Amino acid sequence: MDTGIRTDRIEAVREIVSGLLEQVPNASLRASGYVHMFGVAEACVLLAMRRGEDIELAAAAGYLHDIATYTTGNAVDHAHRGAEMAKQILQEAGIFSTEEIGKICQAIFFHSDKKMENGPLEEILKDADVLQHCLFDPGYVAKKEKDRFKKLKKELGIKKG
Ligand SMILES: [Fe+2]
Repeated sequence: MDTGIRTDRIEAVREIVSGLLEQVPNASLRASGYVHMFGVAEACVLLAMRRGEDIELAAAAGYLHDIATYTTGNAVDHAHRGAEMAKQILQEAGIFSTEEIGKICQAIFFHSDKKMENGPLEEILKDADVLQHCLFDPGYVAKKEKDRFKKLKKELGIKKG
């Protein structure tokens, strides 16, 4: 079945991120990078499907959103630094238009502001970030993620947890 989704673009971003993570010398940081960013990308796809938003942009934002943290080991201001890095990476890759790159990077830029509500793509990325954390460790929900996780459970019809 042809869904019209350009999986080659999703695949390309995944390959780029894989290549960058491969170079991370610290094994545990590298492993966390794969688990978290790949997991967030999948959660982004799920939420984009659910909400009727652009799946390719959502996946790209998920794969790249914490690139600054995992490639440098430094999480300070990582959303803003990551948006800059993602812009460069995507411009070099040449697979998304300038407008699309702008949307992806804007979502990355705002993804740490979990208390704020932004546009649909920003919200997908923030929610996917929370969802991956909560699925990775179902026994723990961080205080700053409680409200979003509660709303997400309602949206997804999840009764337990
Ligand atoms: Fe994240």
